[in-house]
Amino acid sequence: MEEKTAKKLTVKGLLKALLVVLLILVIISLIIFFGGKRNTKDNAVIKGESDTKSLVVYFSQADVVDLDKTDAVSSASMRTDNGGNVYGNTEYVARLFQQATGADLYSIQTNRLYYKTYALTAYRAFWEEKFNTRPKLTGLPDNLDQYDTIYVGFPVWWFNAPMPIGSFFEEYDVNGKTIVPFCTNQGSGVDSGYELLKEGCDGATVKEGFNGNDTSLDEVTNWLKSQGYITEE
Ligand SMILES: Cc1cc2nc3c(=O)[nH]c(=O)nc-3n(C[C@H](O)[C@H](O)[C@H](O)COP(=O)(O)O)c2cc1C
Repeated sequence: MEEKTAKKLTVKGLLKALLVVLLILVIISLIIFFGGKRNTKDNAVIKGESDTKSLVVYFSQADVVDLDKTDAVSSASMRTDNGGNVYGNTEYVARLFQQATGADLYSIQTNRLYYKTYALTAYRAFWEEKFNTRPKLTGLPDNLDQYDTIYVGFPVWWFNAPMPIGSFFEEYDVNGKTIVPFCTNQGSGVDSGYELLKEGCDGATVKEGFNGNDTSLDEVTNWLKSQGYITEE
């Protein structure tokens, strides 16, 4: 009889302990999902050198974490140009697109920053992707009316474009415009973001994309020429 009570108590205790662990995990998850410092960075449109009626818009992790880029040179997610300036992987490629086209440049930024730690950012991004969320953005351009072509750069996040890309296009009517994707990744291709862009860019033509891993200005320029976005001089 005593043994039975002891056994019952143990099972009950175990269940209670499991529930407490579960509750703690849920609370930690919610803190990671809804947490992140407020973004106070400046991210207005940077004017290009030519009046091209095109915009290079990109999302890059380095622009949405509380990071001093000069301290982050060793990160796998950063690239340095010949002048020693440090950029996020996708930001670097976005700047090559801007150089090659003369277009305006804009960095999509969330109003809550992601985390410096890869695991925490990956965790938050995982659930954002699973729930198909649209994180709030900051510093948006008033409109995109003056642009015919929009080059859209993103890192692949969980086999998709990051959800802030969806947030950005929800803000605008891009009917009739040409959308040209490019991305960086660790193996997944640029097609990963195609569905999100097709869905978010109603009435626009979403073109074949460019995979920008380890690319150069020459490669970007040649690709843009081969697709007819810029002409031979
Ligand atoms: C949250 C997260 C999820 C990622 N998911 C993928 C993925 O599914 N496939 C892939 O090839 N790379 C993935 N990566 C790697 C990034 O796409 C790659 O490092 C990219 O170049 C980062 O660009 P950025 O520095 O501009 O943010 C992921 C990185 C992060 C942070």
